[in-house]
This record gives sequence, C-alpha cells and structure tokens, in this order.
Amino acid sequence: MAEYGQGPERDEAEPPDRETLLALAVEIAEEAGEMLLAKRPDRPEVLATKSSPTDVVTALDRAAEELIRARIGEARPHDAILGEEGGDTPGTGRVKWVVDPIDGTVNFLYGLPDWAVSIGVEVDGEIVAGAVHNVPRGELFSASKGGGAWLRGERLSCNTGVPLDRALIATGFGYGVARRRVQAEVVAQVLPRVRDIRRIGSCALDLCAVATGRVDGYYERGANYWDHAAAGLVATEAGARVGGLNGRPVGVDMLLCAAPGLFEDLHDLLVPLDPERD
Ligand code: IPD
Ligand code: CA
Ligand code: CA
Repeated sequence: MAEYGQGPERDEAEPPDRETLLALAVEIAEEAGEMLLAKRPDRPEVLATKSSPTDVVTALDRAAEELIRARIGEARPHDAILGEEGGDTPGTGRVKWVVDPIDGTVNFLYGLPDWAVSIGVEVDGEIVAGAVHNVPRGELFSASKGGGAWLRGERLSCNTGVPLDRALIATGFGYGVARRRVQAEVVAQVLPRVRDIRRIGSCALDLCAVATGRVDGYYERGANYWDHAAAGLVATEAGARVGGLNGRPVGVDMLLCAAPGLFEDLHDLLVPLDPERD
C-alpha cells in the first residue's frame, strides 16, 4: 500500500491534503469491492437482522468493513472510523472515516447490480473526500471538496433547469413498518406530480445518480450518515444541493438532493405532505 500519512509513532499536525485522502479512499473502496465480487456466493446468506426483519446483514458486510478498517488502520493509525457494522472508533487526530461497507445490501442479497462500497473522509468534522464504488457495474464515483465529482475520468454535473413535472425522482424506504406506511402515502402524492419514481436500493447510488444526471432528484427519510457521507459530496461537487426540510441540514430526518430550482420545488411539494410525521 502507498504511503499516505505519517507513521504510527508520530502525531501529525496537519492532515494530508484532500486528494491524498481521496486516493486512499478510492484504493480501499476498490480493494473491498474486488474482495466482495470474488467472495459473493450465488445466494448470500442472511447472518443477522438489525432494526427490523428486513434490515439484513450478511457475512460479507462484516468482512468488507473489517478489511476497510484494517487498511485505514495500516495507513492512518490515528484516524477515527465510523462504520455501519462496527460503530464508532475514536481517533486522536483530525481525520474521521465514514464507512458503509455495502450500501444496498438487499440488492447484494438478490444479485441486483446496484450496491456499493462507500467511504467518506472528514477533516475537522467536514467531509472533504468521498469514494463510492458500484462494484457490479464497475463504476467508481469520487469527489474531493472543491475538486469536482468524477466518474471514469469525466467530471460530473447534475441536470439543471428540470421542471418538477418532468423530473425523474429517486427515493428510498426505511426498514420499519410504521415509517414505510408514511413513506408510501408520501410517494403516492409525489408520483402524480413528477415524471416518474425510481427506487434504486442504495442511498449512495441514488446520490451518485443525481450527480451523473441519471435521475433529476432524490429524497429519503431515515438515511444514516454512512449512507450519504461520501455520495453527498459527489452530488454537491456535481452542482446539486443536498439538505433537509425547512432550511435544516441533511440528516436522518430527511435527505433531499437536486439541482437548485428543482430542490426548492421538490421541497415545497414535500413539506405539506408532512413526510417526517412517523
Ligand atoms: C440502505 C440503502 C437503501 C435505503 C436505506 C438504507 P443498506 O442501506 O441505502 O437504499 O433506502 O435507507 O438503510 O442497509 O443497504 O446499507
Ligand atoms: Ca446503507
Ligand atoms: Ca450497509
């Protein structure tokens, strides 16, 4: 592995620059993706369930996170890590890694080709680099703050100037029954007002889809930080706005993403539907 930081014996005053952190995030996301592709059985088994019987974890979610944590630890032993499967590991420096080893586990389980390794990097509490690896499709989305969003060497920009009634809108649903009832009611009101709805099955790839212009906008209630840490930067660096409702920042309450203009229209459609009422 390339040399990305200082050795474990020294605390660093300045973290490496964003491009250096991004290069490490990309390298690790690629390695984890290769491992997952090589080891994915035809029918992966559910190892355990989390928040509900449909919120599943496979052995490879855990193995991928362990691999990612090991690689970060080798290159950057002082950094903090937040991972979906392994929780919060504090560090002693200014850098924190935010990891979803498989975003889109249900797709992974069924062999649908939209799941991703997602790795975001914070410096002083702000995401400055992100890598999202759609493994089955061989697509690596990356972004650094101020450095643009990229796929296959091409700079990404989201669709602009799309009116709400022509907008292709992605959304997602949580794992809890009560939340899903409300989400179904909300989407029933959104569908007649937009071009169509997509449910890709990975929050990270929904955001990357906005960045590439494969959809025009995306909203979801209940997405966790590890779902959107890396891809939120990909979307904003591609020109999209990412936020919550009523001026609040993006959070578990609501994630809304679209180019300015459509963002406000989608926001104003959602607010009267009271999508945060569950
Ligand atoms: C889920 C996916 C899904 C979204 C859920 C997430 P997981 O993550 O991103 O698209 O609707 O809210 O929890 O469980 O596959 O890592
Ligand atoms: Ca996830
Ligand atoms: Ca996951």
